[in-house]
This record gives sequence, C-alpha cells and structure tokens, in this order.
Amino acid sequence: MAGYNIGIVGLGTIGRGVVKILARQQSFFTDTLGLPVTLKRVADIDESRFESVPVGDAARSTTADPILKDPDIHIVVELIGGTTAAREIVLGALRVGKHVVTANKALIAEHGPEIFAAAEQNGVSVYFEAAVGGGMPAIKTIREAMIGNDITSVKTIINGTCNYVLTHMETRGLPFDAALRQAQEAGFAEADPALDIGGGDTGHKVAIMASLLSGGYVPYGDIPIEGITAVSAEDIAFARDLGYRVKLLGIIKATDSAHTLDVRVHPAMLHLDHILASVSHEYNAVLLEGDAVGQILLYGKGAGELPTASAIISDVIDVARNIAGSTPVRIPMGFYSAGGIMKTRPVAEVVSRYYLRFTVVDRPKVLAPIAATLGDHGISIASVLQKEGSLKDRVPVIILTHAAREAGLRAAITAIENTDFVRDKTQVIRIEE
Ligand code: HSE
Repeated sequence: MAGYNIGIVGLGTIGRGVVKILARQQSFFTDTLGLPVTLKRVADIDESRFESVPVGDAARSTTADPILKDPDIHIVVELIGGTTAAREIVLGALRVGKHVVTANKALIAEHGPEIFAAAEQNGVSVYFEAAVGGGMPAIKTIREAMIGNDITSVKTIINGTCNYVLTHMETRGLPFDAALRQAQEAGFAEADPALDIGGGDTGHKVAIMASLLSGGYVPYGDIPIEGITAVSAEDIAFARDLGYRVKLLGIIKATDSAHTLDVRVHPAMLHLDHILASVSHEYNAVLLEGDAVGQILLYGKGAGELPTASAIISDVIDVARNIAGSTPVRIPMGFYSAGGIMKTRPVAEVVSRYYLRFTVVDRPKVLAPIAATLGDHGISIASVLQKEGSLKDRVPVIILTHAAREAGLRAAITAIENTDFVRDKTQVIRIEE
C-alpha cells in the first residue's frame, strides 16, 4: 500500500486542529513510523472553511458523499457531531469498508451497538478516543493499558464547562450564569450548553467508559444523571467551610453482580485532600482503579482544538498501524451490543455519605426533630453547622451524615419536609470518598 488516505468530514475547531497536527507530524509519521498518512479529501457545509483551514491540496466538497465514494480513502474522520447526519455518514463509511475515527460521544453512547455491528460485519474498525476526555487517553487506557485488570471503579471530572463554572463560582464568587458565559466564550461548552450543565455530556462519556470496562453495553438512557444547575453559591461556600469542594462527578463502580454496575452522574462533595479536588478550571481527570494496578490518574484538557485533535491523530495512526499489520479489527467490539446490556443499580440502593442543607425557621425544637427523624431512618449525623441568618424564618442548617442508604435518606427528608418549620426543598449532595 502506497499510504493511508484520510477524509475529514467537518472542519470546525477539531477538524482544524487535525489538519494542523497532520501537517506538522507528516514527516515523522512517514519517515520514522513508515506510515504515510495523507489528507486526501475534506468536506464541510461551510465552504469558507476550505480557505480558513489550511487543507492544502485536499479535494473539497460540501457533502460527505465524495469521501465515501472515493475508493482510495481508507479512514473517514467524522467531526460534525450530533446523532443524525453523523450516524448516516459513519454507517455509510463502514458499509463501504472504510475505517472510522470519530470524536462523537453522543453517537457512540447512543448508537454504539449498531455502529460496532456494522464495523464488524465489514471487517473495519471504529476508533473514538476523542469522544471521552479530549486529549486524555482514557479509552486507550481502559481498552489496552489496563487489559490485565478488572476495573473496579472510575471517578471522573469529564466536563470542562461544569468544572470551569464550579471553579469560578468558588474562587471568584462568579454567579452561575456569568461563569457559564465565560466557559462558552472560551469555546469548550457544547453548542447546546444544557448538555454540559445538565450532565448529559458527562453521561455520554460515562456510558462509553462503563460499556468498555464492563465488557457489555451500558445504555446512556439507563444512567441516573443530575447536572449542576441546582448547586448554589451557598452550597459551594458551606462545602468550603467544611473542608470540601463540589465537583460534577461521573462514577462507575463494580457491584457484587457481574451484570450490574453502579453508574451515575451527579454533583458530589470531595474532601479537599481528595486527589480529584484539585482538578480545576476546564481541566478533566479520570481516576481509574484496577484490581492489579491499583489507581491510575489521567489529567488533562478534555476539549479544545489541539487537545482533541491530538486524540484523533492517535486514532488515525492506530488505524494505519492496524492496516499495515493486516489486523484491521485489533480490538473486537462485539461485546458492545444490544444483546449485552448491563443493568445499572437504582439510585435508591446507593450507599453514600451526604451533605444536607435544610432551610428552616430559626426557633426552638427544630434541630432535635431533624436529628430524631434521621436517626429513625438509621442515618447517623457526622457534623452539624448552623450560621446566624438575617432572616429568622429562613436559616440554613447543614448536616453531614455518615454512610447511609439513599432510600432511607430520601424517606427521612420527606418526613422532615412535612413539618411546619421547613421553608424550602432540602438540598442533598452526595459526598464521595
Ligand atoms: N462540552 C465539553 C466540555 C467538550 O465542556 O468538556 C468536550 O466534550
């Protein structure tokens, strides 16, 4: 084979980064690795990008068709995002025997079984490192570096927008909306930022990691997801006073059953000594635990032009190496199938410590019934904080609990909220060890 020709569909931020890195590394790939990778075609609906992105003499088109129809293209790089046109293009490429590299987390999380089945039927592969954590090699670490392990847990901060918002609310006292606007201006928020702050983006990435490490398929829709919109500046400040920091966490934990995983996405309080508590601004981190290796921490930029392009290029070179070695489907994905669905543990069965913020009237006989009701449900109090408030009819009472089952906790809160001294919905944030 004379070389490896790629076609890029979508010349947005990541596409531009891929073009730049390819140009910069071309001689290393060709001369040192013996893998001449050429950008043969590009496609974008916005023709102005053919001028603003340095695509050289690559053939240009406004649809993906010419790329799919060109028999000399070996690898299609899908960078348009979404699950409609992108799904058609990816399936179309696989059906005509082309390998696919994609950054599309929603596509893999929601349509993974269909896509991997198409790849296997056609003897080609789908690589998606850039879909999870941008430049951090999370997928390669799970699929290859930790192959000798049972991965028993993953804790991850994997949405830069949420981490940026929470960091800037804490350190600069920025209101939520202003912090989100800054994240959008910096360019790492999704086109629809509701996916970021609502937790969906983290959910997509967690679904992919959970599927890979379980050897099954964890449907995105089965994952309990809470975003950060209900986290107030007050909670962040109280957490700080108590020695904690609030982060949006993706959590995957093995359970006693090989067919069930504890998978969830929600705000969590981390003690300031926790290794993930220092992951700030738009940075991402994945803390993996394997039964052989122990803990591995990946830390880096999960979004942006060059970090995400770095992951795409890594995949392109992997595919080229596979083709060169005549092992195009080096890592079969048959387990990622609709027949291998993993169960997710209901949140009611989660056992955790909790931060509770009650909003109550400042009068005698309030703390005692709260403590009694928690006790009646088997929930033990670890610490209590009440600050004097200027409003006598709305003061916050903060309680940190010892480990408790969520079903019992929710029942206790319902009972407490049915009293006449509670003035608002109780804030509940899980504490992760
Ligand atoms: N919107 C994502 C983030 C970009 O904020 O991390 C990468 O998926």
